[in-house]
Amino acid sequence: MTGSVLISDVRPYGEGDAVDVLVVDGSIAEIGPGLTAPDGADTVDGRGGVLLPGFVDLHTHLREPGREDTETIRSGSAAAALGGYTAVFAMANTNPVADNSTITDHVWRTGQEVGLVDVHPVGAITVGLQGKQLAEMGMMNAGAAGVRMFSDDGKCVDDPLLMRRALEYAKGLGVLIAQHAEEPRLTVGAVAHEGPNAARLGLAGWPRAAEESIVVRDALLARDAGTRVHICHASTAGTVELLRWAKEQGIAITAEVTPHHLLLDDSRLATYDAVNKVNPPLREESDKLALRQALADGIVDCVGTDHAPHASQEKCCEFAQARPGMLGLETALPIIVDTMVTPGLLDWRGVARVMSERPAQIVGLTDQGRPIEVGEPGNLTVVDPETSWVVRGAELASLSDNTPYDAMTMPATVAATVLRGVVTARQGKVTR
Ligand code: DOR
Ligand code: ZN
Repeated sequence: MTGSVLISDVRPYGEGDAVDVLVVDGSIAEIGPGLTAPDGADTVDGRGGVLLPGFVDLHTHLREPGREDTETIRSGSAAAALGGYTAVFAMANTNPVADNSTITDHVWRTGQEVGLVDVHPVGAITVGLQGKQLAEMGMMNAGAAGVRMFSDDGKCVDDPLLMRRALEYAKGLGVLIAQHAEEPRLTVGAVAHEGPNAARLGLAGWPRAAEESIVVRDALLARDAGTRVHICHASTAGTVELLRWAKEQGIAITAEVTPHHLLLDDSRLATYDAVNKVNPPLREESDKLALRQALADGIVDCVGTDHAPHASQEKCCEFAQARPGMLGLETALPIIVDTMVTPGLLDWRGVARVMSERPAQIVGLTDQGRPIEVGEPGNLTVVDPETSWVVRGAELASLSDNTPYDAMTMPATVAATVLRGVVTARQGKVTR
């Protein structure tokens, strides 16, 4: 579905004087001052805000099928639209697992019916996420969803031979393999970052080496296969150094960082509140600062939310028993403003790069992450950089409320989101 909308009084990339942007039948038709809306077109008053290309999230967990009590494709799509997203990639660790085209096509079609954001299913790399046998990647790619990204996220493809084969098949298909880098033999029973805080609190530690050993291994496998690998949720300063090294060698490796690893660290664990439990775990201040710099420098390519809804009974319990994960879609942009824009590490062009352009390029989406120019798709996000708001978990569109940011003040607001000329969210409400 496409639409027509006049977005008035906005500054593309936060640069220059405010202009109007007219989208007709899903594409940008005109950019300039004083445009008038044609009959039947919707209107958005940008109030001098920043216009960016719609955001693309390579790492979202929706819980449909299987755990519709915690998130559905509809509720997750609403959270995404409110967060400024026009495309999300829904991870395969549903129940049943998205390891076949029946499920991946269902996810894609449901997302299109909802119509708030393009929900691209991620296919599992291995059958049932069991790490034993490759899933039918070709069938998922050939289906209606045209699956272009595969991951066992939640679990690591730890068998090096299987990972090698997955990369070789992915090369033939022209699809992306995304790795949850966690050597499972090093994280048995682990619930928190291995360091002084976990030691003091008596929490079993998840060492940095569990992530870094897989990152370097997969860089070498990608080099030898002559193909690409994407690292999910990079969380350590060591991973940054390994990515830097691999990129210097010309290895086709890309990586994302989550908003929570940019904002929070393991000092949050002192209350034993499992809202702070996440995988990979919140690390130390030094890791956080290294990740911010790496995102600014392009060593880490983009932001991925790892939006992970969980029911309250799965989070409000003993730390060791709680599920890992936190909500991310509705708070991502203001956290990037807080951690990257305000300290001067990124300007708005940079925000467009890490939240829209790079993720779209990494996964090969040609209709997202495009420049704001005449003829380009009308996938756009209006940001109000001045209006702050206070997070209330219960008020988020997600069916779950496991946000670590409850009662925190966020420095910027997504004023409106536009998908192919259709306004999907405005003033904190979805339109469909
Ligand atoms: O914290 C996490 N939650 N990390 C993962 O890898 C999986 C995710 C989930 O599915 O809840
Ligand atoms: Zn993961």
